[in-house]
Order: sequence, then structure tokens, then C-alpha cells
Amino acid sequence: MKTPLNYTGNKSRLMDQFKNHFPKDVNVFVDLFCGGATVGLSVDAKKVIFIDNNINVINLLKHLSKYNFDTLLLRLETLVEKYGLSYSAKHGYKKYKKLSGETDNNGFKEYNTLGYYKLRSDYNSVKDKSSKEACDLLYLLVVYAFNNDMRFNRSGEFNLPIGKTDLNKNNIEKLKQYIDRVKKIDCDFICGDFREENIKKILMDADFIYADPPYLIGNAVYNETSNWTEQTEQELIDLLELLNKSKKRFAVSNVLDKVGASNKPLSDWLFNRNDLHIVDIDYHYRGASYNKINRAAREREVLIKNF
Ligand SMILES: C[S@@+](CC[C@H](N)C(=O)[O-])C[C@H]1O[C@@H](n2cnc3c(N)ncnc32)[C@H](O)[C@@H]1O
Repeated sequence: MKTPLNYTGNKSRLMDQFKNHFPKDVNVFVDLFCGGATVGLSVDAKKVIFIDNNINVINLLKHLSKYNFDTLLLRLETLVEKYGLSYSAKHGYKKYKKLSGETDNNGFKEYNTLGYYKLRSDYNSVKDKSSKEACDLLYLLVVYAFNNDMRFNRSGEFNLPIGKTDLNKNNIEKLKQYIDRVKKIDCDFICGDFREENIKKILMDADFIYADPPYLIGNAVYNETSNWTEQTEQELIDLLELLNKSKKRFAVSNVLDKVGASNKPLSDWLFNRNDLHIVDIDYHYRGASYNKINRAAREREVLIKNF
């Protein structure tokens, strides 16, 4: 499964490796820190609960799961027209290239600039960010934004500049796949912080928890506002310890070391433990040429499991 939200740090490339390490007999699977929801959407479980503390992400995932594909696409097409944005899935690439004299490097940037910033300011002025109108606009913002990312400033305004892509065949296919998948599985989307009591209760009732927290030694976009510190890392470790004591199976992604930095709270926690297992993950394992880069960065990405 590829996520319709092209989430930085999403785990789609790692799913083949993860599946070998996840249990097979899961009733309730929790995708904690779900982001774009790639992991939970790709597993076999009777029920999947997606949890993230980013209300915009949860609202958007929920929103996109509510409609059938054709209805949603029709609304998106109306907006694309309203804002004068390119729509290469329908009209191809050449049309826009001719109109704006784009170079290949800039994709659709030139053509979409005016419309994109109007769309962004309209989204930012909508009061109810969980409304249907706001969520449609947010999905389109992600499609046309820089790196297809999602970033908000402290006042909650979407603040990414324009990117190079548009509503292309790939985005449409991902959206369709997502809608098909969520309609097939039993799933819940919950906005919450892992430290909240109601979230702990959900974890305690689950059969398996996969957690993909912001990396203490990472630099993704969501780290900019999430303030993930050594203290937060320790609070997560405390929660995992509690789950471990309650015999709840879990697996957690993280980076233990990378050039010039190491995750000390996590390394300390793992020291001398034979109930916790460290699986080394090869981030680029499908493309052999990347392995060299990975080694040069000396990054140790791991999956830690307690079963
Ligand atoms: C590494 S990303 C998850 C990527 C995701 N697994 C995917 O495949 O797209 C980490 C996520 O943790 C969320 N997050 C950060 N702090 C959190 C907290 N205290 N409680 C719950 N979620 C949090 C962020 O909003 C972000 O979506």
C-alpha cells in the first residue's frame, strides 16, 4: 500500500521486511504514530486502529475514507478547475509545458503558482478545519505542495511552498487504492497523544502494537513542531515497558545511531535485555546502489520487538 499522503518517513518501502517480523494472528492491530497510515493499511488484521496526535492528518485520513472514489474525484476536479491548477492525469503534461514554458526541472510549478497560493490562503482561512470543504482543500494542498508534504506553523496555518507535481495518475491511483482498502477493512482513526490515558487503554486492549515515533535523531518535517525530546523518548520507553510487563506484543521503529549522533535513552533501555530483540532494517534494500550511501551515513535503523 502506498499512502495517499506522501508522508515523510512513511514505511511503504519497509513493509516487505516488516511483514517477516510481525505476528500473523492479529485481531486488533494498532498503528501508533500512524502518519500516512501505510503500515496499518498493509497488514492483515481483523481490525486496525490508527493513532496520531496530528489532528489534520487524522481528519484527512478519516475524510478520504468516507466517500466513494468517483464522488470524491468529481469534487476534486471542480476545485482543480476553480483554482486553475494543472491536471496531468486527465490532460497530460505537454499542454501545461507549452502554456507556461516550464522546464522539466520545475514540473508544474510555474503553471500552478497563482492557483496554489490562492488555494493555500483559502484553506488557511476556513474556520472549521475538519469540515468537508477544508479536508478537500487540504488533500489538494498536499498534492501540489513542496515534496507533497504537510506542514503547519504554530498558528495552524499550512505553510509549505508550491511543489513540482500535480494531480497525476500516480496520485489518483494511490487515492483509489486507499479508498478501496479502507472500505474493505474495519478501521478507526483516533487523534491522541501516546501519553493520554484513553490511548493507553486502547493499546492495552490490542493484540499487537506497531509504533513509529518521530526519531529522536531524525530531521523530518513533523519533527519541527512536534518537539520530540529525550524526555518524550523516555516517556515512550516507559509506555513500552508497561506494555512489555503486561505481555502485549509490540514492534517499534527507530534509528539507534547515525553519523555523529546516537539515541541514548533507547540504547540504554536495550542494554543487556534478552526479552527485547533488535532487527536491523535495510532502508534501501531493494536498490543495491543505495546501500553504499546508507553505510556511508552509518545510520542504524532498527525494529525492536518483544516477542
Ligand atoms: C515517523 S512518523 C510516522 C510515519 C508513518 N508510520 C507512515 O508510514 O506514514 C511519526 C508520527 O508521529 C506523530 N506524533 C508525534 N508526536 C506524537 C505524540 N506525542 N503522540 C502521538 N503521535 C505523535 C506525528 O504526527 C507523525 O505523524
